[in-house]
Amino acid sequence: MLHIDILSVQPQMFGGFLSESIVMRASKKGACEINIVDIKEYGIGRWHKTDDKPYGGGPGMLMRCEPVFEAVEKCLAASTSSKRARVVLTSPAGKKFTQRDAEDLSREEHVIFICGHYEGFDARIETLATDLFSVGDFVMTGGELAAAAMTDAAVRLLPGVLGGGPAATSSESFSGEGLLEFPQYTHPVEFRGMKVPEVLLSGNHAKIEAWRKSEAKRLTHKRRPDLV
Ligand SMILES: C[S@@+](CC[C@H](N)C(=O)[O-])C[C@H]1O[C@@H](n2cnc3c(N)ncnc32)[C@H](O)[C@@H]1O
Repeated sequence: MLHIDILSVQPQMFGGFLSESIVMRASKKGACEINIVDIKEYGIGRWHKTDDKPYGGGPGMLMRCEPVFEAVEKCLAASTSSKRARVVLTSPAGKKFTQRDAEDLSREEHVIFICGHYEGFDARIETLATDLFSVGDFVMTGGELAAAAMTDAAVRLLPGVLGGGPAATSSESFSGEGLLEFPQYTHPVEFRGMKVPEVLLSGNHAKIEAWRKSEAKRLTHKRRPDLV
């Protein structure tokens, strides 16, 4: 069972994600357990302060060390994992998260995501992390959507979560040889003059397989030559 703690100052952002998604179905099936931790509970003083001005000046506020360290340490102390938990700091300055990373996380027992906010983190918070992950070269206001995206990508790989078994994820984009997925079609056979390729209607599985392989290569060369 994969246990995921998501640490955030905006825990309400996870409402829909946890109540309406495959992730919710996965946790009902017992494949994973998702726990949202409100960092403000560890905030400083009467107002549960979690941020402060940066030394040296500059715009915005930074997340302070004390609440984040306390929240992470509490999650680590409660861990039932046989190995050390992965602690993922969400950051646009991190390594770009890939399908390989999702596969890695899906094999863990305990993952802790730390969602940043404001201008970012006090740099000392990085010492808590085993990984710094970015979900792309753009800047969002907080780490919640990044943590939700990585959680979704890892949880859908857990055994029994998707119908169709391992085949449901083994021929997708970025899996296996790392190519993009081949194009797929459903009914009707013809729509506004656009026809489903003949080979897919042929019933010849060897030919269909060969066509899919060559289309996956063609599309990857065209759209994502960096993957080839
Ligand atoms: C406004 S951003 C801080 C950006 C930071 N000042 C910088 O220039 O790198 C606030 C928080 O959102 C999250 N975040 C924003 N963009 C992200 C991305 N592309 N991937 C992962 N997390 C991101 C991180 O947790 C970050 O600390």
